[in-house]
Amino acid sequence: MGNTHKIEERKKTKRTKVVSLSDLNRVFQIEKASFPSPWTKEALKTQINSPLGFNLGLEVDGELIGYIMCLLASDECHILNFAVDPRFRGRGYGSELLSIALDTLQKKGIRHVFLEVREKNLVALRLYIKSGFKIVGKRKRYYEDSGEDALVMYLTFSAEG
Ligand SMILES: CC(C)(COP(=O)(O)OP(=O)(O)OC[C@H]1O[C@@H](n2cnc3c(N)ncnc32)[C@H](O)[C@@H]1OP(=O)(O)O)[C@@H](O)C(=O)NCCC(=O)NCCS
Repeated sequence: MGNTHKIEERKKTKRTKVVSLSDLNRVFQIEKASFPSPWTKEALKTQINSPLGFNLGLEVDGELIGYIMCLLASDECHILNFAVDPRFRGRGYGSELLSIALDTLQKKGIRHVFLEVREKNLVALRLYIKSGFKIVGKRKRYYEDSGEDALVMYLTFSAEG
């Protein structure tokens, strides 16, 4: 009889946090690994410092592994940026972060949420549809790097919450 090894998946500690300037380098690292035309460090810094910004990060075992960045105006939210570190994708973290962000936005009194997504970004597109977004428009050749069209997506929270 050989030894039986019980492999246990250690439970990971997850928490969301507001992204701060101390996260800038890590956010920039994920950003560069995630997009063909990543935001510059300066643009990320401006967003983190913006009084109109709502920037939520997800930490796993103390390491920032993803973020979602939004601009708020009145009862509207525009999701500007959303990424998960490639090493951590496909494990539900993106869905969880988006879901927590949407809950928080609703509690803040946001009613309307907009975003743009590359037409060919099927992973993100499916994730947004699963989360309740609907395609409401198209911006032709929105992305300068590839000339791709952007789909405009919209979600509204029902009045009864
Ligand atoms: C979009 C993104 C944030 C999703 O993060 P994630 O942690 O991988 O998301 P999840 O693990 O919750 O997966 C979401 C869905 O996509 C699916 N998925 C994830 N990776 C996939 C892959 N490589 N191929 C196919 N499906 C995939 C998952 O199965 C899941 O679908 P399900 O809920 O039906 O099972 C991440 O892929 C990313 O950072 N992409 C690059 C940046 C980007 O495109 N951001 C969005 C800009 S609009």
